[in-house]
Amino acid sequence: MRAVIQAVDFSVPERRITNDELAAALDTSDEWIRSHTGIGARHVAGPSVVTSDLALEACRKVLDKARVPSSEIDFVIVATVTGDYIGFPSVSCIVQDKLGASRAAAMDICAGCTGFIYGLEVARSFIVSGVAKKILVVGAEIISRIVNWKDRNTCVLFGDGAGAALVTAENGDDTRGIISSILRSDGSGAQLLYRPGGGTKFPITDEAFESSASHIHMDGRQVYNFAVKVVTDGILELMEKGGVCLSDVAWIVPHQANERIIEAASKRSKIPLSKFFVNIEEYANTSAASIPIALSEMQSKGLVKQGDLLLTFGFGAGLTYGGNLIRW
Ligand code: ACO
Repeated sequence: MRAVIQAVDFSVPERRITNDELAAALDTSDEWIRSHTGIGARHVAGPSVVTSDLALEACRKVLDKARVPSSEIDFVIVATVTGDYIGFPSVSCIVQDKLGASRAAAMDICAGCTGFIYGLEVARSFIVSGVAKKILVVGAEIISRIVNWKDRNTCVLFGDGAGAALVTAENGDDTRGIISSILRSDGSGAQLLYRPGGGTKFPITDEAFESSASHIHMDGRQVYNFAVKVVTDGILELMEKGGVCLSDVAWIVPHQANERIIEAASKRSKIPLSKFFVNIEEYANTSAASIPIALSEMQSKGLVKQGDLLLTFGFGAGLTYGGNLIRW
């Protein structure tokens, strides 16, 4: 049994904030942001929009595209670090209900920007083991709501959005599908990228709770160094595990956190930059949504065709990292 990605699509809020617009309110500039990150703009959700709204829209588009009724979905998996609520209920349950996926199980994955990659491997395992046949895997975030908009070190980096994939069980001779994945973590770096407040450690009701605790805190330089290393080593390991070489791979689809990380990984691994798909300029870092948004854009622009070999790779809060090898 193979787990095949049947359709992908995405949803981003209409409101688009350029670097120049940010620079009008913050001590930064278009030149600094572009030269240090490759980011030109980000899409930001309005105050009445919640993460499940973006996830729902992406799922509806995917189901329409694949012509699969929501009643046939066995499992809704949403990767997010910015749920509608802290902890529970999960975004996936809200999406399951609004979709009318009445027989589906629902589960959120908290693996930072690697969440969608974890989700694809969970979906593959459930399909191969016969537990499920049709699974929605979603990455959805409203990161704009947890960044400190006065902190130029972090707020310029992120954007909001959701991307969804329908993964289905297929038999037959065709070779399409998720071939293999590597999923890893390094919790010793938990505090390099985290949101301190609101959990059991610093509860909101605690007198010591400060509002800054509910924002993203990040050691950018350390995350950068970690990312370049794991992306480089991970891509090579994933190709080795899948028994493929670079010339077999049509595209590497990396997590879109910083274009400089992708350039450094390309240089360190000696893989040409042209193999890496990059769309960070328009969306910034949308965390768990970045890879499904990238896959959707690649498909709509005709950059990927059936049978192409794709390699995704991501890293993020946790710290987590990992990738998937996919025959499209
Ligand atoms: N505008 C202008 N100046 C800025 C800005 C800004 N937006 N942000 C930082 N600076 C300044 C700093 O204050 C610093 O000034 P100083 O030298 O006077 O102190 C200077 O620029 C250089 O700062 P560095 O931290 O050395 O800049 P660097 O080149 O390392 O870039 C960056 C910083 C972009 C954050 C980089 O380290 C990075 O991308 N790290 C990885 C972050 C990341 O990928 N995070 C997401 C992980 S995935 C997830 O799970 C969410």
